[in-house]
Amino acid sequence: MENGKALLVEVNKISIGIFFENGHVYAVRNQCPHKLAPICKGVVDGTMLPSDPCDFKFGMEGEVLKCPWHGWHLI
Ligand code: FES
Repeated sequence: MENGKALLVEVNKISIGIFFENGHVYAVRNQCPHKLAPICKGVVDGTMLPSDPCDFKFGMEGEVLKCPWHGWHLI
């Protein structure tokens, strides 16, 4: 299984994405809390971290699932 790609399974008619990231296994319901998109078809990436004004820090790489429709971040 490739990092950042979900293996989709169905359990009791509920779609679940299984992710293997950096030696860990995560299970995520394949439904975005915003507008119910299939969030497991999004990418696993990082996000912007809190920082001082005019200072931009990117981090948490491989820990954030981004919804393909509007970019909701699931951490
Ligand atoms: S449906 Fe996922 S961000 Fe809108």
